[in-house]
Amino acid sequence: MSLHKSLEVLFTPAEFALLADRDLSETVCVVFDVLRATSTMVTALAHGAASIVPAAEIADALGFRHQYPGALLAGERGGTRIQAHLTGGIDFDLGNSPREFLGDKVEGKTIIMTTTNGTKALHACRGARRVLVGSFLNLRATAQSLAMEAPAHLLLICGGTGPHASYEDTLCAGALSELLWEGCAGQPIADSALIARNLYRRDKEHLSEAFEQSSNAQNLQKHPELRDDIAFCTQHDLFDLVAEMMPDGQVVPARISPPPA
Ligand code: MLT
Repeated sequence: MSLHKSLEVLFTPAEFALLADRDLSETVCVVFDVLRATSTMVTALAHGAASIVPAAEIADALGFRHQYPGALLAGERGGTRIQAHLTGGIDFDLGNSPREFLGDKVEGKTIIMTTTNGTKALHACRGARRVLVGSFLNLRATAQSLAMEAPAHLLLICGGTGPHASYEDTLCAGALSELLWEGCAGQPIADSALIARNLYRRDKEHLSEAFEQSSNAQNLQKHPELRDDIAFCTQHDLFDLVAEMMPDGQVVPARISPPPA
């Protein structure tokens, strides 16, 4: 696989908050919130959802209902589905478990979604040449699309956990770096990409155990109905799907061929 020019990873929300000051016009961003926002978006699209509309805040999600009548409301705070006491009376239709976003529940639906970190990370990338939604579930398809496009700059953005870096997102950024590494030979590779790739190479044979150590996984473990999300999100290449956030803010299945010059 070939990739040109620079490769960099951002680990924390404090780093992606600074993207507003960067010129991203020649940069392709890939956002990871492996546990669980981006894994959930990819699963919903693979099951036929028409689009996902990421909202940074609950109030934004409620506001989007006027723009997208009939859309479902999805998302979490503290890991669990957003309920009436957080919204002034409206229970969200879905939480943030990828295993909820299957079949008839999502097929043909537009889904407005707000999560603690993942949807904020996506908003931080607006202004980039392209914004892709990454996870282990669609890793190879995402890598193939990037190799075909060979963007001038590739920025891998970890959604994190609260204000902190997250281990599972770092591992997924490392896994994508690993797939693209040979194509980056001789190009500027940030130490952040080296860190992520080396961690992935160290842990790749026991990824589930590595995930279990993360604080996000430990939070999910406290909720019996959410525990199985961890194993679900560690699956590699379950879906042959590239997910992209379009300029209008909707995340949809992406084109695979390179854009016209
Ligand atoms: C997030 O966006 O912060 C996560 O997806 C949280 C979660 O696992 O629900």
